[in-house]
Amino acid sequence: MGFHTIESLAMATARELEPAGISEKKAFSIIEEARSNIGVSFIRADELLEMRKSVLRLTSGSKVIDALLDGGLETQTITEFYGEYGTGKSQICHQLCVNVQLPPERGGLNGAALYVDSENTFRTERIVQMSKHLGLDPVQVAKNIIYAEAYTSDHQMFLLDHADQVIKENNVKLIIVDSLTAHFRSEYIGREMLAPRQQRLNKHMHKLIALARAFNAVAVVTNQVMAKPDVFFGDAVHPIGGHIVGHTSHTRVYLRRAAHGPVRIARLVSSPYLPEGEEIFKVTENGIEDVSEEEKQDKQKSRGR
Ligand SMILES: Nc1ncnc2c1ncn2[C@@H]1O[C@H](COP(=O)(O)OP(=O)(O)OP(=O)(O)O)[C@@H](O)[C@H]1O
Ligand SMILES: [Mg+2]
Repeated sequence: MGFHTIESLAMATARELEPAGISEKKAFSIIEEARSNIGVSFIRADELLEMRKSVLRLTSGSKVIDALLDGGLETQTITEFYGEYGTGKSQICHQLCVNVQLPPERGGLNGAALYVDSENTFRTERIVQMSKHLGLDPVQVAKNIIYAEAYTSDHQMFLLDHADQVIKENNVKLIIVDSLTAHFRSEYIGREMLAPRQQRLNKHMHKLIALARAFNAVAVVTNQVMAKPDVFFGDAVHPIGGHIVGHTSHTRVYLRRAAHGPVRIARLVSSPYLPEGEEIFKVTENGIEDVSEEEKQDKQKSRGR
């Protein structure tokens, strides 16, 4: 049923084991056993503080974005990037796949990446370009990216539900679902489908959190936006998936374009412990990069004119 490791079993719910014909009572005792095996139970906040130390950070490729996120994307939680088409969501995902392979002193996690692609936009060409820029061997980097195309929302869920072994065996430290919502959005149409869609999305997100926590991995999802016809001031868009996605994504970053060209604006919209904030970065052939001081000044000059 997709539980190949004690870690994933420990994070399961009794209900998830039901289809195997296991009684609720038995399921509880199995999960209990798995939990006691890896030591999941009540803890004091000082121990929590200690556990927070096991949270690792992955660099985005941009120093200012890393600073916005208090040192990079963190393991054990979900980071969501949302925004309109072409704002750099998938580019960031590509960059993270390369960065995760770097050693910790360069902002990486010495690990592999798992890429679940629902829109067929993963491009090895980009991995090659980004790897070369970082002085890494592109073939070696590509070897550490495990790729799966999701054909439907069910298939997408199936992939994550069966990912635990692949994650463990390959030392995966980054799990990407790009895009989280595209299939759900196109398959569940109409008001009466909203409730089942949200329920499935919720389940999917919880599976992702469980994996991120069990394997101390970074989880990243991307999401598109919808126009808000009733908004006159501020941003007239909001991310797909409503409260379910909003509440299960621990950290949400809204991406938008800064006029024309490679510059993008990243806004930290919600985080459990960080203030909101905004930074700019750029998407180039090299990948995700900081905007240099000269470029910023040039921009200001051209604005003044
Ligand atoms: N080789 C490259 N060199 C420079 N910029 C590039 C290169 N490849 C892609 N880009 C930039 O990245 C943009 C595409 O961004 P990306 O694919 O991340 O969009 P997205 O936010 O995932 O959109 P969607 O919602 O359609 O999935 C291009 O429009 C271009 O500006
Ligand atoms: Mg994309």
